[in-house]
Amino acid sequence: MCGIVGYLGSGSALDIVLEGLEQLEYRGYDSSGLTIKTSEGFKRVRAEGSLDHLKQKIEKLEGPLGIGHIRWATHGTASLENAHPHKVGKIQLVHNGIIENSEELKTRFKYNYQSQTDTEVIASVISDFYSRTGDFFQSVFETTKLLEGAFAFLAVCEDEAHSIVGARKGPPLVVGFGKEKEFFISSDLPSLVQKWTSRVAFLEDGELVHIQDGRCQFFSSDGSLIKKKIQTIQKEDQAKGKEDYAHYMLKEIFEQPHSSLRVLKAYTEKGQINFSSPLFQSAEKIFIVACGSSYYAGLYGKFVLESIVGIPVEVDLASEFQYKSLILKPKDIVLFISQSGETADTLSSFHQVKKRGVTCYALCNVRNSSLDREVDASFYLNAGLEVGVASTKAFTSTLVLLLLMALNKQKDHSLVSQLFDLPFLIDQVLSKSEQIKEQAVLFSKYKRFLYLGRGPHYPIALEGALKMKELAYIHAEGYPSGEMKHGPLALVDQEVLVIGLAMKDFYYSKNIMNLQEAKARGGFILTIGDQNHKSVADQHIEIPSCHPFLSPILEVVVLQLIAYHFACSLGHDVDHPRNLAKSVTVE
Ligand code: G6P
Repeated sequence: MCGIVGYLGSGSALDIVLEGLEQLEYRGYDSSGLTIKTSEGFKRVRAEGSLDHLKQKIEKLEGPLGIGHIRWATHGTASLENAHPHKVGKIQLVHNGIIENSEELKTRFKYNYQSQTDTEVIASVISDFYSRTGDFFQSVFETTKLLEGAFAFLAVCEDEAHSIVGARKGPPLVVGFGKEKEFFISSDLPSLVQKWTSRVAFLEDGELVHIQDGRCQFFSSDGSLIKKKIQTIQKEDQAKGKEDYAHYMLKEIFEQPHSSLRVLKAYTEKGQINFSSPLFQSAEKIFIVACGSSYYAGLYGKFVLESIVGIPVEVDLASEFQYKSLILKPKDIVLFISQSGETADTLSSFHQVKKRGVTCYALCNVRNSSLDREVDASFYLNAGLEVGVASTKAFTSTLVLLLLMALNKQKDHSLVSQLFDLPFLIDQVLSKSEQIKEQAVLFSKYKRFLYLGRGPHYPIALEGALKMKELAYIHAEGYPSGEMKHGPLALVDQEVLVIGLAMKDFYYSKNIMNLQEAKARGGFILTIGDQNHKSVADQHIEIPSCHPFLSPILEVVVLQLIAYHFACSLGHDVDHPRNLAKSVTVE
């Protein structure tokens, strides 16, 4: 949700800021902008829409210092005047987050505001302090004391040619140390480590950083100077770019045999599951807290954990969990699932639980993310960098990891050997991509999509519907098959495409019955399963037979391909679905 980047050093600030914004484009693409300190002063350029629009507007800007922004709109439309950097007096500023008391501050710090954003007021308050004190850093520091809400921002001052001040409360901010007297600042770690430097320091909540004249100093929320540990981070062994694929999303769908194998290998040794501890031995109850696709993965986790470990599991949406009365007992364990490890609601829920002293585990993909650094223990998805906004390989890796955690220390390891067939099974599903593409093109006559499943297939129905909504902008709903007759059946007519998850397992006959009911009301039925039930299916996509804990993983690959190909046939930019961002750092 918005990305910010800054640079001060001997290189070209323009090139580095633009490269940084490219890396951060997954965080928003409503507008972008930057300011570069040139020999003629600070030059600000902003553009609506994607980063390419900004690049087209820039000619040549030479200088050693710059800050940039990529926007996911929260306050105000995706217009030019709302694009960052915002400028008030001698201050320019880029911001990620939401200032909750912006209206109140605007009343107090009167100014002819040019935008509808909650950001411009930060620049205005800094400018106000600066005009009275002439001390740039102190002005930023005083401003942070007045801000309510979440922020990571970078500010520059026209009087200080070699100075950037950054502050964090909520959204992440990482400083990278390059060659001598060279500093990078970014909203995420991968952009720093993949491109520029492996030596980094993370700002914690409430901290500020002041980069000035070749020096980098960190300050705590009370303004005192702090010594930060510079960490050396290993660059992930990860090829960047789309390679020969049309989109990152397609590439990431096709990476799933490898990504699932990676997570399997990470937590097994010689065919045995190998977590260093018993994980849930003394737990009375397990909570799973997450957002979006990670939440749906959590629902699958509930199914396998309750079935295999036999401990009750409650799955909560982080956006709800953080505000409810928490009934937690000392022996409970809370699993936070987050691909990015930066989702604001998930982090905020974690902070609530941490205060209670309950054990918190993270299942996350991005190492050294905020969540990873703060929990009691992290378990990694090992999916590799996921760029597509709609999660694919991280989702399947989460399912595999949850299954491994459930199977840990269980006596019956027969399923473990079957787990190693998973990459081959996924490969078989992927070989149907062209067939699915042809089928998906024909779906455009349907106005609504219903995804039905039972048991472990129900979370997959939810995830399939989410993929369709995100990518094709079509109303799609995942529903437990047996609940259709309690309302949604009234929606079914010739305009509805019903996707039934119908593996020949324990749930099969009941599922087929529910699909018959939808067919009888005129719905077009597409089944996904290991057996074609011709009397119900208008179309069928065959997937290999496998253990009922594994088949959801194959089903979701089909649903990813359906959503991907259908959205492409509609001409949508699947890597940048409208109104969305990959990392949601605001509540
Ligand atoms: C966004 C992404 C989703 C993701 C969700 C939670 O909405 O577009 O793909 O599932 O955030 O993200 P997290 O990083 O916490 O898993």
